[in-house]
Amino acid sequence: MSHTCRIELDGTPHEFPVVEGSEKELSIDISTLRDRTGYITLDDGYSNTGSCKSAVTYIDGDKGILRYRGIPIEQLAEHSTFVETAWLVIWGRLPTEQEMERFSRRLTMNQMMHESLRSHFAGFPPNAPPMAILSAMINAMSCYEPQMMDIEDDNTMEKAAARIISKVRTIAAASYKMSIGQPLMYPHPEYKYCENFLHMMFSIPYREYWPTPEVSRALNLFLILHADHEQNCSTSTVRMVASSQANMFASCAAGVCALWGPLHGGANVAVIEMLEFIKQSGMKVSEYIERVKQKDTKLKLMGFGHRVYKNFDPRAKILKDAADKMLARLNISDPLLDIAQQMEEVALNDDYFIERKLYPNVDFYSGITLRAMGIPLNMFTVMFAIGRMPGWIANWKELHDDPKSRIYRPRQVYTGHTLRDYVPVEQR
Ligand code: SDX
Repeated sequence: MSHTCRIELDGTPHEFPVVEGSEKELSIDISTLRDRTGYITLDDGYSNTGSCKSAVTYIDGDKGILRYRGIPIEQLAEHSTFVETAWLVIWGRLPTEQEMERFSRRLTMNQMMHESLRSHFAGFPPNAPPMAILSAMINAMSCYEPQMMDIEDDNTMEKAAARIISKVRTIAAASYKMSIGQPLMYPHPEYKYCENFLHMMFSIPYREYWPTPEVSRALNLFLILHADHEQNCSTSTVRMVASSQANMFASCAAGVCALWGPLHGGANVAVIEMLEFIKQSGMKVSEYIERVKQKDTKLKLMGFGHRVYKNFDPRAKILKDAADKMLARLNISDPLLDIAQQMEEVALNDDYFIERKLYPNVDFYSGITLRAMGIPLNMFTVMFAIGRMPGWIANWKELHDDPKSRIYRPRQVYTGHTLRDYVPVEQR
């Protein structure tokens, strides 16, 4: 295999090195292209552009493979917990018992917010979008942790990671409580990660909420499946911000903003809204799908399609199975699940979707699972953010630890006006 690539520009041949990844993916290193040829590349949406080398997550979109630090998502879904997976994603290996105990202790020590941080919530209107609160409060949190802004050793790194991963639950639950006019619940020092979050979400004074084992397991699974996903939109945003040497809190707060969009993490809300529309309108699934195929409707099958997966998204398969089992065990029948399963069946046998390799992605069934846990719709994307926090932190760390990392500063192809003079207002 030749390890160079030859490009001819204006009759002149230029050779560029080929870089091979640990899973044999091939890339052309064009870092000297502009200096040597004056050309830049143009790649709308970065579909063909590698922004970095990373050792955190591997995806094979054609084979439906997803591995965190080499471990298949199916094995983590079956055997791990979110806290253990978070440690794996950030530090690159499964933790020893001692490391798990220390990290769990740090999560517990950092689960409460600074009391004056709690008062910020009173400043938000009751209908404030929880994603706006989450992003604002992650940044606000850093004001109380100045020592976490400058991470120069593994110990401080783990403390900072524990702070964000732990407190993001408390902030999320607090934003929900504010939105329904209930008092904020303090985290319980004896509860594990997921149980504590659900306690802060659903307990009220003098009546503790304690989740069933099914719900705790379902939440752990949901968070494990969302922990990282290569250079997706929000993770790339985290790296963009981190590349200017901004602190971890600012980078993760930016990641929350990118995740908010309906084409990305906001899709889990859009899927439920789509299924609800079909249910309320009485429209047949096949009729809705026909409308999606008509371009002028600008409708998309939310929860379908993916930039990388051109086969099934392994997370969707796991979540579909988990949703099925949890609803059965909780004896819940959710008509939206029936509609979703119908939709998948029809779409996967329709040429429009087959030709475009559109399959259910992680968001298609995740909303059904969250509904069964009693999570309100406006908190769905926040749940995605809680799950993705370890992946954002791992990517921030990877860039921060790289002595050769440079500020991200893409170029452009200018298409605006060529040179023209200023015209005084009286002559316009
Ligand atoms: C996540 O990147 C990640 O890893 C993200 C994520 C993660 O874990 O971080 O996996 C999480 O964001 C999952 C995606 C959630 N978004 C949705 O479910 C929204 C619906 N999906 C689409 O918007 C779309 O599929 C994207 C945004 C996910 C991917 O968009 P691309 O890669 O830019 O695909 P495209 O727009 O170029 O589509 C190619 C064709 C087009 O048709 P033609 O112009 O060729 O005729 O497929 C069509 C699109 O119109 N198409 C869809 C469709 N998705 C693409 N048609 C109907 N319904 C859809 N959902």
